[in-house]
Amino acid sequence: MTAADRTPVTVLGLGAMGSALAEAFLAAGHPTTVWNRTPGRAAPLAAKGARHAPTVREAVAAAPLVVTCLTTFEDTRRALEPAAHDLAGRALVTLNSGSPAGARAMAAWAAGNGARFLAGAVKNVPSAVGAPDTLLYYSGDRTVFDAHAADLRVLGGDTVHLGDEADLAALYEMAVGAMLLPALTGFFQGAAALQARGLQARTMVRFAGKWLDMISALLPVYAAEIDSGDYTDAASTVDLFRAGAAHDAELTAETGVDTAWAAPLNDLLERAAAAGHGGHSVSALTEVLRGPRAAA
Ligand SMILES: NC(=O)c1ccc[n+]([C@@H]2O[C@H](COP(=O)([O-])OP(=O)(O)OC[C@H]3O[C@@H](n4cnc5c(N)ncnc54)[C@H](OP(=O)(O)O)[C@@H]3O)[C@@H](O)[C@H]2O)c1
Repeated sequence: MTAADRTPVTVLGLGAMGSALAEAFLAAGHPTTVWNRTPGRAAPLAAKGARHAPTVREAVAAAPLVVTCLTTFEDTRRALEPAAHDLAGRALVTLNSGSPAGARAMAAWAAGNGARFLAGAVKNVPSAVGAPDTLLYYSGDRTVFDAHAADLRVLGGDTVHLGDEADLAALYEMAVGAMLLPALTGFFQGAAALQARGLQARTMVRFAGKWLDMISALLPVYAAEIDSGDYTDAASTVDLFRAGAAHDAELTAETGVDTAWAAPLNDLLERAAAAGHGGHSVSALTEVLRGPRAAA
């Protein structure tokens, strides 16, 4: 395939992630048009061969595939409004974070303007865009995904279509993304505890990495327990985690490190025990988290 055969692409939104997306398309030889609300952010991409469109209308008109990477779905709709009538027949792919409801609203707006729509999510940092194992998932119009799978794979080799319902990518994005802040906060708490002893955070990186590997290996086991609703074959019980929670106050007393962020997690353990799950696998926390509405 020559550069002349590559699909022309427009990228709207040139923040950290949008710029990385545009760079990946440029590096793969796609004729790439870019637009950003603050025009100065387009300069580095223009220097690498991108065409800088002065208006969103000109940007949308430049390519059959329009990829957006603004902060939210609402920002995206607001920015696209002047080009709404230019979207008919084009493939519109959003790559921002947002809720399933936000994705559904975006899909309805796109359909109302005749765009063929995919809502996607980049499950990695900007520097990983374009790598063979970088995960991006999409949901919505399967024909758009099939038509542009090779173009979209330029952004990351692990490219998945989750289904025709446009909100699925946002749902999985939130489901998987929920793990990030608790896991990182635990790492930051650990780093603070080490610093209180004059030790460097980097001394725990190898051990923390092995801990994450172990957690990763446990996920299919916990998923099977959750899917079956059988929590009785427990390797690690709710009560075991409750015993560990008692050490938070001791760590705070010894090091001054603030462990208060873990209080709601410890409360979750207490509520699970009160609901009769003390001797069950810790994955039974899902029963408490699911809440009455979804359980009905
Ligand atoms: N960075 C990451 O590590 C990462 C990882 C995965 C997913 N994401 C997701 O990718 C999306 C973009 O993230 P980012 O890191 O690129 O953010 P960013 O660097 O803050 O850039 C935000 C972009 O959105 C534009 N924007 C925001 N509101 C706008 C509006 N009302 N009208 C027009 N343009 C608007 C900004 O334009 P201006 O330049 O004019 O302000 C800028 O281009 C987010 O949904 C984020 O959650 C980011």
